[in-house]
Amino acid sequence: MSKFKVAVLLSGGGSNLQAIIDKFKSDETIELSCVLSNKKEAYGLKRASKANIDNFYVDHTNYSSREDFDRELMGILEKYKPDLVVLAGFMRILSPIFVNQYLGKLINIHPSLLPKYKGLDTHKRVLDNNEEYHGVTVHFVDNTLDGGPICAQSSLKVETTDIDELQKAIHELEHELYPWVINQIANKKIYLSDGEIIKKV
Ligand code: GRF
Repeated sequence: MSKFKVAVLLSGGGSNLQAIIDKFKSDETIELSCVLSNKKEAYGLKRASKANIDNFYVDHTNYSSREDFDRELMGILEKYKPDLVVLAGFMRILSPIFVNQYLGKLINIHPSLLPKYKGLDTHKRVLDNNEEYHGVTVHFVDNTLDGGPICAQSSLKVETTDIDELQKAIHELEHELYPWVINQIANKKIYLSDGEIIKKV
């Protein structure tokens, strides 16, 4: 039986990619097939190379429209036929062309307890608002910003006023949650059906 193939899109350090690599490197049913970045200097590309995973840099500034860039990404992904496309710190909004192609097979991790704190600078806003709890969300991507159906969340009690410390604690939650969700989706325990999320966990 062929393995469940995962593609990762990123723009930065790729600590979530590393967590995914570490979790599935010897897995019998799930494989990481390729990594794409829109940033040449993204350390995530190096992590992919080290793990012998095919990786590509596609400079979005070379494309005159968002759609053209997305078509280029889709062209690369098409060769790998991923069962799941995982956004892990990918700092580009994907156009409906891309999102509709991978609907139900496209997930994102967001550093807040959605629907609270959509968008950027979530840690700062959480601290500014003296929130008691903060956390992370993995969700299916649809054509709304940080608004797709939620797969899973994990949370922590905010016990610091230091943004770096908070970010580190949130990253630790992410590194547990994201591989877990990928595993659940690969095993058909979390999926989308007519836009509704089904969870058998
Ligand atoms: C994570 O905090 C994730 O929630 C957000 O982007 C960040 C990526 O971090 N979407 P890394 O590149 O995986 O270290």
